[in-house]
Amino acid sequence: MKETKPGRQAGRKAFLDVLKGRESARRPIWMMRQAGRYLPEYRDVRKQAGSFLALCGDPKLASEVTLQPLRRFDLDAAIIFADILLLPKALGQKLEFQEGEGPVLEPVSDSSSVAALSSSGAMAELEPVFDALDRVSGELPPHVTLIGFCGAPWTVATYMIAGHGTIDQRPAREAAYRGEPWFEKLIDLLVETSVEYLIRQVGAGAEVLQVFDTWAGVLSDTLYDRWCIAPTRDIVRQVKASCPGVPIIGFPRGSGLRYQKFVSQTGVDAVSLDWSVPLDWARQELQPMVPVQGNLDPIVLAAGGPALASETQRILDGLSSGRHIFNLGHGILPDTPISHVEGLIAQIRDLESAASSARSKTG
Ligand code: CP3
Repeated sequence: MKETKPGRQAGRKAFLDVLKGRESARRPIWMMRQAGRYLPEYRDVRKQAGSFLALCGDPKLASEVTLQPLRRFDLDAAIIFADILLLPKALGQKLEFQEGEGPVLEPVSDSSSVAALSSSGAMAELEPVFDALDRVSGELPPHVTLIGFCGAPWTVATYMIAGHGTIDQRPAREAAYRGEPWFEKLIDLLVETSVEYLIRQVGAGAEVLQVFDTWAGVLSDTLYDRWCIAPTRDIVRQVKASCPGVPIIGFPRGSGLRYQKFVSQTGVDAVSLDWSVPLDWARQELQPMVPVQGNLDPIVLAAGGPALASETQRILDGLSSGRHIFNLGHGILPDTPISHVEGLIAQIRDLESAASSARSKTG
């Protein structure tokens, strides 16, 4: 890693500075799914582990892949290599990842299957994640912040109930509309165990937490308040009671206008935006409340060319008057060329050094 980038001060973490409302040395950058299949070194380690789940369960290898993107790119954060579905697995639900198919779980869809889940041994099952966090925090460069995470109860429940990814999350939405008592019990269990999981991640070295609600956008407005906002608010409140200084970022993907009430009602410290959010609106309505993170379309990063440069510039211009963390609007795609990621980061950093040298000439 290059150690002479402008704006880098030993021991100062730009990402944490922005989240805590302090002056920051530079605009922080990280990317959702920054460790993953687009990196050949990731594919090597994954092969060595034998499977994705074996990789998540091996703290030495999981910490290695967490650090891989930082060796290539000038990033401000590392996100622990794990998955939102490790929690249902720790609760006793059978989980497999099938090549090309994604996750496959034994569906939870009635009161007896929810009653069969158990939180009692869950944290012990998740020990490899805590161990990996501990290892990574001992190896991080001082300017890099370590992120822990969990899935939001709603999004995790969509997979637990359907048993796999669906295009419309219909099984979970039907359970919610029917007011199934087992659905409410499942969400309560996920709130309770996610709180414990996040607190333990902080104990193991996580400095910031992100809650991924990938499927928030499919909820009708009534369901949104009840199953996106309320569980997230409960998690934020309880985690903050134990870890008051640790910023929590919410990512309720696809929330549209509801990003605003999501921020004001959940108490998150920052919000991650998908690529559809208009920047003028984000600048006027969201940035005065909290720092915003995002929101480059992962498909334009894969496509590259002039569109990548102009979309990047549009985001930098649109959000630079407020608190901003550069990120994608969702996870990086496996076929993204590494050269596009390098170009993206160079574009952001070059612009920053041009601005700071202009400042030092005038000041
Ligand atoms: O961001 C990171 O680099 C940290 C690691 C991370 C993974 N999953 C690794 C992963 C994080 C933060 C997640 C979150 C996650 N997992 C979400 C929320 C964010 C999002 O992307 O929507 C969701 C919904 C999941 C569940 C999940 N995991 C699915 C649906 C799949 C299959 C689809 C896919 O991308 O393959 C996964 C697998 C997964 N999780 C991979 C990685 C690197 C690919 C596994 C492989 O190596 O084959």
